Amino acid sequence: MDNIWSKSEYLPITELVRDVSGLTFPSNRLGAAQRCIDLAMKSEGIAKPFDYLRHIRQDRAALDRLVDELTVGETYFFREQERLEYFRRHILPELLARKSPQKELRLWSAGCSTGEEPYTLAIILQEDVKAGHFSVLATDICRKALAKAAGGVYSAWSFRGVDHSIIDRYFSRQGDDFALCQDILSLVTLAHLNLTSPSSSFGTPDTANMDIIFCRNVLIYFDRPTIKNIAERLFNCLSPGGWLVTGASDPTLALFSPFETVSSGNGTFLRRPLERPEPRSHRSAPRHSISLSKDIDQIISTRSASKPPEPGPTPKTFGRYDRERPESSRESSQERAAGEFAQGNWKRVIELLGTVGSDRTANIMYIRSLMNLSLTHEAEAASCQALEADPLSSELNLLKALLLMQMKRHDAAAKTFETVIYLDRSLAVAHFSHGIVMTILKEETEALKSYRNAHRLCQALPADEEVPFAEGERAGVMAQSAVCCIKLLEARSGAAS
Ligand SMILES: C[S@@+](CC[C@H](N)C(=O)[O-])C[C@H]1O[C@@H](n2cnc3c(N)ncnc32)[C@H](O)[C@@H]1O
Repeated sequence: MDNIWSKSEYLPITELVRDVSGLTFPSNRLGAAQRCIDLAMKSEGIAKPFDYLRHIRQDRAALDRLVDELTVGETYFFREQERLEYFRRHILPELLARKSPQKELRLWSAGCSTGEEPYTLAIILQEDVKAGHFSVLATDICRKALAKAAGGVYSAWSFRGVDHSIIDRYFSRQGDDFALCQDILSLVTLAHLNLTSPSSSFGTPDTANMDIIFCRNVLIYFDRPTIKNIAERLFNCLSPGGWLVTGASDPTLALFSPFETVSSGNGTFLRRPLERPEPRSHRSAPRHSISLSKDIDQIISTRSASKPPEPGPTPKTFGRYDRERPESSRESSQERAAGEFAQGNWKRVIELLGTVGSDRTANIMYIRSLMNLSLTHEAEAASCQALEADPLSSELNLLKALLLMQMKRHDAAAKTFETVIYLDRSLAVAHFSHGIVMTILKEETEALKSYRNAHRLCQALPADEEVPFAEGERAGVMAQSAVCCIKLLEARSGAAS
């Protein structure tokens, strides 16, 4: 761990927490983690981190209390409406059509925090499915959050963006707060469960044969091996044809486990295939022994809308990856990924890196590779996740802006290009792309301004020098393109006046 804590006495405490809960602490969360640890030490009456470490090693309850403090329980009712809409309009009808009416529909909110997610699901099911024919299990590692969920009383903050008719129908006023009605409370079973527990199954409560698992905004706190392990276990908890709903910013689980991905305008969803015939010779092999490359092929083949580009020439602007693959057999997967990236082997890069981590360079390679394979939803989720830990990186913001542009989300792309320019005014490619987006949005004055900035910056470079982050485009060529765009816009505005 290469950060200010490297030699600190807090480090072994966070390592112990990581070992028992999977929680990791990237640099942007270290300060908050240290404050939590200080508070936990104070409440146990211990002054020194070293003594506290010894204490939590010996007293499991004290360690659990610390984990409670270090979890991030941010949640609210009807969070990520588009995903819930997809669940309601597509997943639920599909499952109900397939399931015999006698069999109950089994849902699990894994990492439910204070209960807003499972109660949201119970409200949707209450409205769409006959009561009694479904069950909702809600689990979390944080006992404090579960206790709050059991009370079912929430402040207005838990209802951001929720329709008032829902509040009127299912909640009653309790001072400044809102108490959930008993009908909905009784539909949800709350239980303590650590998703990273060492046993191979999740054990009790019964998490087998689930039809739908919601595991949103939980995996973002874990490292790659932990995410992989949980992905495989969640897969095994689903019935054939069962669905896993992750959050928009969550890592791409399909790359770790044999899920099939279903892309929609509401995001990417994961499903355990209905039938997965296994070759005889492999019957006894664990399910997670499938090859990752096959999964990526599967994902790509489900994207019928656009043909993924062939592995193309090296994007030379990310030149720091243009190095020879080192001979050493101990080279890290990141170094190997850099070599594959330099050769345009996007699939291998994704396999080697697996998901977003704490290293910016690796994250940029990973996101770019997803983009180059047209895995736009995955690329978007990955860029959101990388930016969460590294919000001031102009390169990561630029990638996100280019991705939004590729997805034709021009308003969002324009705003993100503006962030990039705010972070680094010298990036000609950001000005030029902002010009394109503003032209599409018919903001011609802004577009002209951006093209002129791009032109000025490119002219300051030797004509045959590559424009930074512009996929090998030469400064002279970009300057000429900017001039063409400026002339076109000026002609257009002249014709209009
Ligand atoms: C940000 S909340 C997400 C709540 C809800 N799923 C949502 O999307 O609104 C993350 C939750 O994951 C839980 N969590 C963290 N590590 C866990 C683990 N190892 N096992 C189970 N839950 C965990 C935390 O306690 C926290 O309540």
